[in-house]
Amino acid sequence: MAAVERGYKRWYESAFCRRGRVLADRAAKHVALGGKWQSPYSLDATTIVLEDGGSRLTGRVRSSLYPEIKFALDVRVHEDGVVRVRMDEQDGLRKRYDEAASWALLKEPVLSPSLRWCVGKQEAKVVYGEGEQVEVIVGFEPLVVRMKMDGEEQVVLNCQGLLHMEHFREKVESKDGGIPIAEGQETQRFIQFPQNSWFEGDTEDGFWEETWGSWTDTKPKGPESLSLDINFPRHGHVYGIPQHATHLDLPTTRGEGAVFSDPYRLYNNDVYKYPVSASGLSLYGSIPLIHAHSADSTVAVFVAVASETWIDVAHPTKDSTETHWMSESGILDVFLLPGPTPDQVFGQYARLTGPVQLPPHWSLAYHQCRWNYVSSDDIRSVQKRFDEEDIPVDVFWLDIGYSEDYKYMTWNKDRFPDPTDMIKDVEARARKMVIIVDPHLKRTQDYPVYKEAQELDVLVKDKYEDEFEGSCWSGNSAWIDFFNPNSWEWYKSLYKFNGREDDKWSWVESTDAVHIWNDMNEPAIFYGPESTMEKDSVHHGGWEHRDVHNIYGMLFAKTTSQAVKERTAPHKRPFVLTRSFYAGAQRFAAMWTGDNLGTWEHMAVGVSMVLSNNIAGMNFAGSDVGGFFGNPEPEMLTRWYFVGAFSPFFRAHAKLGTERREPYLAAEPYKSIIRDIIRLRYSLLPVWYTAFRESSVTGLPVARPQYVVLPKNEPGFSIDDQYYIGASGLLVKPITEAGVAKTTIYIGEDQVYYDFYDGHAFRGSAEGKTVTVPAPLERGPLLIRGGSILPSRERPRSSSPLMKHDPFTLKVALSQSGCASGELYLDDGESYDHREGDFVWRGFFAKSTEKTVSISSEDLALKNLDRAVDGVKLATYNGGNAFANILNGVQVERIIVIGLKNKPSKAALGNTDLEFTFEDGISAVGRREGLASKLTIENPCVLITSDWEVVLDL
Ligand code: GLC
Repeated sequence: MAAVERGYKRWYESAFCRRGRVLADRAAKHVALGGKWQSPYSLDATTIVLEDGGSRLTGRVRSSLYPEIKFALDVRVHEDGVVRVRMDEQDGLRKRYDEAASWALLKEPVLSPSLRWCVGKQEAKVVYGEGEQVEVIVGFEPLVVRMKMDGEEQVVLNCQGLLHMEHFREKVESKDGGIPIAEGQETQRFIQFPQNSWFEGDTEDGFWEETWGSWTDTKPKGPESLSLDINFPRHGHVYGIPQHATHLDLPTTRGEGAVFSDPYRLYNNDVYKYPVSASGLSLYGSIPLIHAHSADSTVAVFVAVASETWIDVAHPTKDSTETHWMSESGILDVFLLPGPTPDQVFGQYARLTGPVQLPPHWSLAYHQCRWNYVSSDDIRSVQKRFDEEDIPVDVFWLDIGYSEDYKYMTWNKDRFPDPTDMIKDVEARARKMVIIVDPHLKRTQDYPVYKEAQELDVLVKDKYEDEFEGSCWSGNSAWIDFFNPNSWEWYKSLYKFNGREDDKWSWVESTDAVHIWNDMNEPAIFYGPESTMEKDSVHHGGWEHRDVHNIYGMLFAKTTSQAVKERTAPHKRPFVLTRSFYAGAQRFAAMWTGDNLGTWEHMAVGVSMVLSNNIAGMNFAGSDVGGFFGNPEPEMLTRWYFVGAFSPFFRAHAKLGTERREPYLAAEPYKSIIRDIIRLRYSLLPVWYTAFRESSVTGLPVARPQYVVLPKNEPGFSIDDQYYIGASGLLVKPITEAGVAKTTIYIGEDQVYYDFYDGHAFRGSAEGKTVTVPAPLERGPLLIRGGSILPSRERPRSSSPLMKHDPFTLKVALSQSGCASGELYLDDGESYDHREGDFVWRGFFAKSTEKTVSISSEDLALKNLDRAVDGVKLATYNGGNAFANILNGVQVERIIVIGLKNKPSKAALGNTDLEFTFEDGISAVGRREGLASKLTIENPCVLITSDWEVVLDL
């Protein structure tokens, strides 16, 4: 956060957004008056060439506005059916930035080997997919791209005729004049081509220079913005384009009754105390991915652009959506993801930008942070208090106060005289530390990091090509230019433990128990325009900051994560937390929602923000438990712990100057309740890790909103305050209001759901049904979907690595048809050996007949060799691998079956009878609600790594 003058632009304060919106208004007005608005852009059919075996169509686009300007179009079909549409100015005066995709994409996508465009007189077409259900059509005059599924239009580019790629031009002096068209713009000039005013207007609105507050953007390249309408004629719900503090189902910004007056903005910013659900205000990270959903299909569009972007959303009817994308610079590079199911969209996006990296297991446990833990003894005493109070915790964090004068990677030796000993004391309790490293470098020659960066010439430059100077925590500072490849190896070398070959400085007082927190990487700059870097600053290759802004933070996190990984041998999985992110950042880091307030509404919006990040690939997400600002009252703090315990990333954090609020300080009953909530997280770590593992190979989210799990159940499409954890069947609805004793949960299917705590059976219905669930402080609402088997570890430990050999409990929640299944994935939690097949992946199955229920455990790895979207070598799997051998002897200590129709006469494992207890209650089968029956087998004598079958005779 920046305790300085700040403010953020409204749409009318960004000239290119003003131009884009005014263009849309002009078109709409024209149509309303009965005119036909035709895009000036067309594809010259005589220039079409089919390349790469025919799946790639290229040709020349012309604009009737400027017939002498050429644009190159390139439409490619990938082997998984994703379509990429690229357009760039050809032989222009300058070059547009064309590298956003190269940072976002995991690798260059493979084009379809078997497809061939069919080129006609007015359009080109390609048809593919099972039963040839996908059709992509490029219309020539005007240029329109349509993707159809089963004959129905799913996504259309430029059907409203708002495509406009402002070409590079020379500035021609003309007289000043004109009337301001919107607040904030004082002077405009007449443009050179009045004949184009029907499309472009008749003023050069902010073409050559723009002022905002005391800032002037010199715009040396002039106008180069990009406008494009992307329509979803059959989808009434759109999600994604994080990060905004609003609902998952994006409220409208245009059209009648628009909820927000500004478009959604993507421009990474340090926005502490951000307003909630008030606007499309851009926050710390940007992912230009939008999902469009209806009960019939899901599609998505990923726009690889890194410059400031504004997106209008309108629903002309309740079943359709129009979006309008306006970006300041860059080429047009749009990916159309055909779905047609949410799961397929996740796979398609993960193949493009990569799935989330499988995090180290400990990083899914509880993290304790505050700004600041002030000394090594402070850390030691906090650790001691956690242990005395039997509250599990895995990670202690150090904020900026550890460093000497905010020179990151140096220690303030007055307060931290013995850093390595402190880290070792934490390690001795099987815990880790995460330490903050920000991207601003104090400009002083006695800071080796700054000095070396300067010598290497890897710092960002200002518009005069001098070193860029700005202010941040460290006072007068410079910023590493992570776009410069020369910065990478050097930066990584700073993290090496043993000095470097050339004997220069490195962060020696650290160990491999230390992982890293990258903050302020938007980049945040005190007193900068909108608290960030001037757009006319210059990066490697001569690109302006304007071109690359939204990617800067990701490259910092990427380099840091490589550094943390590469300093270990053999490599261990790194953990990096980043505040700023872009598409693809899931490969390198977890994120959090920044400087929230300790208020109920911030707690609530944190839940929908985490869901929005989850559907955009950034699964490892959470908000500051307790709220960054303020001193939450005990009830709020307790509820926030539950929110955190059911977020993929679970960290308590608090601002400098707030009262201490470590859980052991809470008065009773809050302390015990918080302890139980944290323990619940620990007992369910097998579920979280399994969910992350699935996500890391399939791209499916870890926290799954209703529309993802039940994509055909319409009433669930706008729900964003309840969600499922992976494929586990856990459905959670955190309480985010004061004084609540019960709540309602929506069940969007005809299935039985059980209360997690007491097994009360609730019934949903095919149309969807709302049930009332008790929600006292000690029972955050949590249901298990009938048909699930949950693996858990129930023995409380002080940190998660100590649970490694603990036995498992399996909770079998029978479905209405008497079946259930579940998964468990385990590996050593920190190395990369799982990529060589060192893991355990079990499937549990319950099957019912009239007279029996059988519960079995099977090896899933051998059966699912084809599920990975990328690079996970399941094929090398060997059931007797080294990791599985370590787990030999780990038992299932308890099997619980919920919803049996009657007490079994016998339970047996092969020929051995097993003892059990049975509490009478209602059966899964049927329609009755109430406490379900519960059978418990203690010590069934089965191993977690073996195949077995327990049979119950009914
Ligand atoms: C920023 C971060 C916050 C951190 C503070 C000091 O405000 O968002 O989490 O504590 O900087 O480093």
